[in-house]
Parts: sequence; structure tokens; C-alpha cells
Amino acid sequence: MSLPTLVAPSVLAADWSKLREDILAAERAGADWFHLDVMDGHFVPPISFGADFVKAVRKETKTFLDVHLMVESPEKQIPFFLEAGADLITFHQEATPHAHRLVQQIHAAGKKAGIAINPGTSYSTLESLLHTVDLVLVMSVNPGWGGQKFIETSLEKIRAIRLILAQIHRDVHIEVDGGIDAVTAKKVIACGANVLVAGSAVFHRGNRTEEDYRQAIQELRS
Ligand code: DX5
Ligand code: ZN
Repeated sequence: MSLPTLVAPSVLAADWSKLREDILAAERAGADWFHLDVMDGHFVPPISFGADFVKAVRKETKTFLDVHLMVESPEKQIPFFLEAGADLITFHQEATPHAHRLVQQIHAAGKKAGIAINPGTSYSTLESLLHTVDLVLVMSVNPGWGGQKFIETSLEKIRAIRLILAQIHRDVHIEVDGGIDAVTAKKVIACGANVLVAGSAVFHRGNRTEEDYRQAIQELRS
């Protein structure tokens, strides 16, 4: 089964002074998921938002919430984001020695589990998780900020992971996150990715209207 191409606008890039409006506009414009970038100021230098912010987004939309934990000790945070209404929680392989157990914990709560790797982390560290995760997140920028330049070596990583998943007959989402626009989207899809995180490409488009968001999402998907 080939996985659908999904566009997941990153709420980090939305206008938080009118969060409800922006979320609803992006939803009407065709967002498949919302990507929520949680940053703790330790795993990455910036601090973004916590579980209460996710709870606020949950109240505004039924759209699938894809939570990306860029945090140290994700085992401490996962319960809060399950309670906040996340549909999928992704944590970083680099942030815990117990990735396998955390995937089990998320699955036990009936939710989807993703594993993320930074540009400097080899995909081989994921091998023992590929039989159980629902999603692999390949960071195509060094995490912490939106609006950065796509790192081209991510392409080989995406290709290698898709090959291994095919060899073990698992249709797992491969999500790419950072510097995704109409040009890089084509490249990552050609390599086997199917979930496109886009912060600035969507929420900073034109005059940031629903129509701007619709055009941006359509360009990414095509
Ligand atoms: C970076 C975040 C990305 C970022 C993407 O640490 O994980 O999701 O928000 O932003 P753009 O699409 O602008 O690179
Ligand atoms: Zn992210």
C-alpha cells in the first residue's frame, strides 16, 4: 500500500496572537495534520510551548495533532501530551536510552508513536524500532528554529529508511521536518517521504490568508 502525501503545517510558525483564526484557516485550506513543535530550552536552545498550548489547539480543531517533542527526558513529558490530546507523539532517539519502552507506553495509551533523528544521527540507530513505530521523523534542519535551510544529506537518509521499511514490509510514515517548500518537497517525496512538515512555507506565505495557505499546501502536495 503506498502511503498518502500529507501536509502538516508547523504551528510554531503560526501567528499566535490569532492562533484560533490561523488554525481554522489552515484547516480550511487543506492541512492534513498540525505539527506541534515542543521545545524545552535544553534539548534545543529555544523554549516554544507545553501541553497546555496543545490542549488549546485541541479545543479548536479535530485535525490530527502530530506532536514533536524536542525535549530531554521525553518519558517525563509524554503523559502530559497524551492527556493534552495528541494523536501522535514523536520523541528524539538522542534524548532517551529507552525509546522502545516509550513507544510501548504511547501505544498502550492508544496513540501513534514516532521516533525522530537529528541531521547528525545515523538512521542505523533506528533499526530496532522500525518494527514498532508508526512514523520516522527525519530532521532536515538542526532543530530549534523555523525558517532554516534544508540539509541535502537528509535525502540519502530518507531513501535508506524507506528501503529498510520495504524490506520488513512495514508501511511506516516518513516525515521530514525543516526547510520544506515546493522544491524540497518534491525531492523528499521522490526519496520515499510522505509527511511534509512546513512552518514558514505555509504560515508565512503572502499575506497569511486562508487562500495563501491553500496555495502553499497545494504546491507542497503536488
Ligand atoms: C524546527 C522544527 C520544525 C520547524 C519547521 O526545530 O522542528 O518543525 O518548525 O519550520 P520551517 O518549515 O519553517 O523550516
Ligand atoms: Zn518539528
